[in-house]
Order: sequence, then C-alpha cells, then structure tokens
Amino acid sequence: MSFDLVVIGGTGDLAWRKLMPALFQAFRHGKLPEGGRILAASRQEMSDDAYRAWLKERFQEVEGAKRPSDDEFARFAGLLHYLRLDLSQPAGYAELKAWLGSKVGHDTPADVVVMYLATSPDLFTTVCAQLGAAGLNGDRVRVVLEKPLGHDLASAREINRVVRSVFREEQAFRIDHYLGKPAVQNLMALRFGNALFEPLWRRESIANIQITLAESIGVGTRGDFYSRTGALRDMIQNHALQLLTMIAMEPPSRNLADAIRDEKLKVLRSLKPFSIESVGRDVIRGQYRAGNADGKPAVGFLEEDKAPAGSRTETFVALRTEVQNWRWAGVPFYLRTGKRLAARDAQIVVNFRPTPHTIFPGTSAPNKLVIKLQPEDGLALHLLAAKGAGQSEALAPVSLDLDFDKAFAENRVGAYERLLLDVIAGRLNLFVRSDEQEEAWAWVEPILEAWRNDDVGPRPYNAGTWGPAAASALVARDGYAWSEEQ
Ligand code: BG6
Repeated sequence: MSFDLVVIGGTGDLAWRKLMPALFQAFRHGKLPEGGRILAASRQEMSDDAYRAWLKERFQEVEGAKRPSDDEFARFAGLLHYLRLDLSQPAGYAELKAWLGSKVGHDTPADVVVMYLATSPDLFTTVCAQLGAAGLNGDRVRVVLEKPLGHDLASAREINRVVRSVFREEQAFRIDHYLGKPAVQNLMALRFGNALFEPLWRRESIANIQITLAESIGVGTRGDFYSRTGALRDMIQNHALQLLTMIAMEPPSRNLADAIRDEKLKVLRSLKPFSIESVGRDVIRGQYRAGNADGKPAVGFLEEDKAPAGSRTETFVALRTEVQNWRWAGVPFYLRTGKRLAARDAQIVVNFRPTPHTIFPGTSAPNKLVIKLQPEDGLALHLLAAKGAGQSEALAPVSLDLDFDKAFAENRVGAYERLLLDVIAGRLNLFVRSDEQEEAWAWVEPILEAWRNDDVGPRPYNAGTWGPAAASALVARDGYAWSEEQ
C-alpha cells in the first residue's frame, strides 16, 4: 500500500518536535509501508534539499536514542519532499493536487493520502474548506486534526461543522495522543482480554478511581498560549476524560472503532453534570508560585515568559465526578492534572473496597491496581501478604509489578508513531469522534462558566508540590486520600 502524508505546517514546532521524529522511528522500525512519500507544506520558499537539511539540523535536538545517524537520515530523507503552500490561497492547493497526482517517487498515485493539519487550530476551517474546494477530499484522503479542537463547545461545533461539510466522519482522525500511549492499549487488554477483573470492575468492589496527569515542567515559553488555555482545556477536557472513558466504558461488542466510540460516548453522557454550586465544591483550580522543581529553583506562572500580568489561568485542576449508571453509581472519580507538580507522573489508580471482615487485626490495606502511563509503562497490583514464618498475623503490603517496557522492549512504539501508523492503515479505534469531543466540551462548559463569574481565582501552590491543599481536602471529604498520600 503506497501513501502520501502531507504535513500542513511542515516547519512548525509540532512537525519537527513530534511528527517527523515519530515518522522517522516508524521508518527505522520498518513499520512505514513501502512506497510512501512525506510532503512538508509550509509558507516559506524552500527546495526539497533545503527542507531536508533544515530538518536534519532540527533532529539534533531530538532525544539521544531517537536521533538518526547520518546514514539513516539520508535514507529517511529519500521520502521527504517540500511544497510552498499559502494556506489561504486556492493556487497552492491546486499545486498540492498536481503534486499528489504526480509520479515523483511513485509509480502511480498513492492509495492513501493523509493530510495532517499541524497548523494553529485557527486555520483548521480555512484549510478544510480549501481542501474541499480543490477536490482534495476524495475517498482515499484522511484528515488528521490536532488539539486544541476548539476553545469551548461552540467553537468545537463550528470546527466539526466545517470538517463534516468537507469530509465524512470516517475520514476525520482527531488525535488525542494519550490514546496512543501503550498503557491505554494495556488497559483495553487488561479489561477485555482477561476474565479476571471484569466481575470486580464495578461499584460493588471499587471504592474510588483516581486519574493523575502530573507534570514537573512549567509552561516554559508557552506562557502566552497557555494563559489562553489553562489546565482544564489543555488536559482535562481531552486527555483525562479520554482515560476516564477507557476505564469506565462497558465492554464493546467488537474491537472496532465505532463499537468502542459508542461505549465511550455513553460514559461521557453519564458523567454527573456540574452546576455553579457543585463547581465551587467539587472543582479545585490552582496556579503555581515560585518554588523548587526537579531540584532547581523555579519561577511562578506569572513570572514565566509571556504570561500576562495578573493572569488567572489555572495551571492545576483537581475535580470529583461520578459516572451515573448502574455499574458506577456513587463511585467517586477524581481527576487531577497540573504543571510544576512534585513529579512527572501519569497514572490511574483503582482503589478496591476493603475486605468485608478482617481476621488480621491491625492490618488494613485495601487492594489497589495502578495503571502507570509514565514515566514508566506498567501495571502494579497491590496486595497483602504474610511477612514470614511464625508471624502469621503480620501482614505486609506487596505489589505484583509488570514492567511492559521491559517485557515487550522490542515492540515499544511511541504514541505519535503508533497513531500515525494507525492513520495510514485507516484504523480509527484510537481517535476521537466528533460527538465524543462535543460531549466532553459540554461537560466542562459549566466549569468554565462558573470560573468566568467568580472573582476568587485559582489557589496558589508552590512549584514542586502536589498542588493546593484543597485538592487533598476534596478527596479526604469522602474518607479517601490521593495515592501518594496513602
Ligand atoms: C499536551 C499539552 O497535549 O500534552 C501539554 O498541550 C502537555 O501542555 C502534554 O505538556 C503532555 O503530554 P505527555 O505525553 O508529555 O504527557
């Protein structure tokens, strides 16, 4: 199967930091189908060779082991081409069409054409409309859209309306790179490939579920983008909610995109809606002040480059919600994310209920299952075991640890690599459907609304901590604690 992959915005940050390195890894692993071409399209005038040289230079900044040798880059560069494209001008799209129909590096036009919109999201509607007008929306074309897909429900709907007027839903690949992380595949395998957990995966056995997406980095040079976005839009509306759907969904009838996405949509529709009052009680927002992160002094959000003076943007969110259906009624789901937290740590913790009656007085440590997304990728099941002979009453917590990075080392692929290969192969399972995306926006909308009308603003927390104390109180109110406090 031959393919053409067009990176619109081919000289932007996303292109050289994430997409090109991921494509290179796929190439290096021999996973990129033979006979492919990659076309970077951008505003500057550049020859193919000039683009290759520019990218080679950029690759020096790519993580060590992922950097190509000169020889590897030269082979990868054989796939790379460049086209000048002014995104708002029809002429450029006509040239793009001619290039796609040409035989440069191909015997016949490609079977699959992927249009990756790696531009600012403000341009998505313009680009889609132009692609449609140029007739670049035929059956073999797939369009990939990167977050942020909209700023609120209305803007997300508008983007979807334009995308739908040009492409069929099956042609639209909305990326949420968290779905490409290996731990998410393992979660699907754990839940639906094994009989062991399913009977326990419900309110009768589970006390609460915690999803933590913690970063130790600050907003760095993205102060200006970030101040318009904030943690709720940047991480909760998409990544955290997508993980929640994966945890809470009913078993899909098949391993097919729509069967999976129908179940995820049902979860989003079952989320307990927020009111002004419940936002005040169940959602905590914070903003980091100066402190210490990764062992070094760190400035506060307001001192970051390009962060507007007095910005009330949240860099931390913790919230409590419920999935209102028979399986989950009453089980709290706690979601938490933030920048400049104590560690880079993304994990889902499933806390089971304690034993109904204990014959080992003084020992209590309910079972928990920890699904680790990063920094390492694995599973840990926490159990109680007897410490040793003659101490039958002394139980100690032990954990059964599965380190997937070690167990399947040769097959590990990064999130973008995996998702790009899925787009080329036409597998939509790990991409977000427009109705899911809109439902997720509809759910966060009352939070945005309540914050707009509240003059208290985010609570301060010191860089390098786990966020405002109120986030611990949120969980303590139900008689629980965040995993690192247990
Ligand atoms: C992105 C956010 O979607 O995810 C960033 O815009 C965040 O702010 C990033 O840093 C985190 O991704 P990962 O894969 O490093 O956890």
